[in-house]
Amino acid sequence: MCAMPGKNPYRPGVGLPPLYLAGREGESRRFGAALRSAPEIPANFTLTGLRGVGKTALLTKLSEIARDRGWAPAQVELEPRHNSEAPLVALVGEVAARLADEFATTRRIAQAVGRAAKSVDVSYGDLRIGFVRGPSEATQDLARVLYDSVTAANRAGREGVAVLLDEAQVIRDDRKGTDFPLSTLLAAVASLQREEVPISLTLCGLPPLKTHLLEARTYAERMFRGEEVSSLGTGDARAAFVEPLRETLVTFDEDLVERVVAEVDGYPYFIQLWGAELWDAADAADIQHFDTRLLDAVEPGIYQRLDRDFYEPRLAALTPAEQDLLLATATCSYPPLVVSELHSASPKTKPNVNVLLGRITAAGVLYRIKKGLYEFTAPRFHEYLVRRSGGR
Ligand SMILES: Nc1ncnc2c1ncn2[C@@H]1O[C@H](COP(=O)(O)OP(=O)(O)OP(=O)(O)O)[C@@H](O)[C@H]1O
Ligand SMILES: [Mg+2]
Repeated sequence: MCAMPGKNPYRPGVGLPPLYLAGREGESRRFGAALRSAPEIPANFTLTGLRGVGKTALLTKLSEIARDRGWAPAQVELEPRHNSEAPLVALVGEVAARLADEFATTRRIAQAVGRAAKSVDVSYGDLRIGFVRGPSEATQDLARVLYDSVTAANRAGREGVAVLLDEAQVIRDDRKGTDFPLSTLLAAVASLQREEVPISLTLCGLPPLKTHLLEARTYAERMFRGEEVSSLGTGDARAAFVEPLRETLVTFDEDLVERVVAEVDGYPYFIQLWGAELWDAADAADIQHFDTRLLDAVEPGIYQRLDRDFYEPRLAALTPAEQDLLLATATCSYPPLVVSELHSASPKTKPNVNVLLGRITAAGVLYRIKKGLYEFTAPRFHEYLVRRSGGR
C-alpha cells in the first residue's frame, strides 16, 4: 500500500490562488512597468474576462507586484450593494483607512499619522485639486480619503497606493437617475492623478465592465489600459496542470496531459478541477500515476461536479421564468446567442423574452455584445444547458 502523500495540489474554486500561476507574464510585466512610470503617467488598468478564467488570481498577483515595487496594495471585492455613491465611498474609504492604519503599527508611527492627518488638511488645500466638473460631495469625500491613505503610505516609505477592485462590473452609473458611483470613483482618482498623487486604480470584472466605463458620466476611455484575461494557450495550460505535481510523487503519461489540455480549452478553473478530481481518484485507488484509464474512470464524475459546483448555482439563482428562457437557449446556435432565434425557440411573447433577457443580464449570467446578440459570462455554459436539456 502506498497512499498518496501530501495534500491535493490543485485549487478549483472562486478566487483561490493556484499553486502555480501559469501565463499572465505580459499583464504582470505591463502592470509593473506602469507603476514604475507613475505618477507622471497614471497606472490604471482594467482586467476583463469570463467567469473562472483567472481574473481574481491575476489581480492577487498584481497586488503582490505592487507590494514588491514598494507600493501599498488595497484589493477588495465589490458586491451589488456597493452600486451606489454612498456605500461605494464608504467601502473604499474603509479600505483606505485600514491601509493607513496598517502603516501605523507602532505608537510612534501612529502618532506621526495622527499629526499628518492635521497637516493633510493644509496640504490637501494647497494641492488645489482641479475637478473637471463641479465635484459632487461624494467625489470630494472619496478623493480626500484616498489622498489621506497615500499620505500615510508615503510617510511609511511606500511609493503610493494601488487600489484593486474585483467584481467591478457591479458598479455602474444610473443613467436616468442621480446616482453615479462609477463616475464618482473615476473623478476622484483622476483628480488626484492630475496632481501626480501616486495612486493607481485597477478595475477587474466581467466583460460588461467595459461598457459601463464607456457609459459613465465621467469619460474614462483613455484613463485605463485594458487587459483582456483570456483562457490559457496550450503551453501555459499544460504548465498549469503539470507544475502543481512537481513537488509530489505523482507521475503522469504524456497522452493523459494532452487529453486534459484538449478537454479544458485552456480555462484555468477547469484545469484545477480536472487535476483535483484525478488526484482524489488516484488517492482513493492508492496509485501514484495519472494515465488515460484513470481519466476515463473519473471524467463522468468531473462533469457532474462541474455542473453541480460551477453551472447549477448560476441557474438556481434565477427565477423559474428566467430559467425556462435559459433552457430554451439550448436549442439555439451558439456562440453568440441570437435573440431573433431565441424568439422562435421560446413559447414566451417577444416583450416577455426581452424583459427576461434584461434580468438575466443584470444577474450577470449573460452579457450583451451588441444589439440582438448575447454571450454567456461562464465558459461552456451553453454546453451545460444542452446537457441539462438532455440533448448532448
Ligand atoms: N493563471 C492560472 N494558472 C493556473 N490556475 C489558475 C490561473 N488563474 C486562475 N487559476 C485557477 O482557476 C480558478 C478560477 O480562478 P479565479 O477565481 O481567479 O477566476 P475569475 O476569473 O476571478 O472567476 P470569477 O469570474 O468567477 O470571479 C481558481 O481555481 C484558480 O486557482
Ligand atoms: Mg473572480
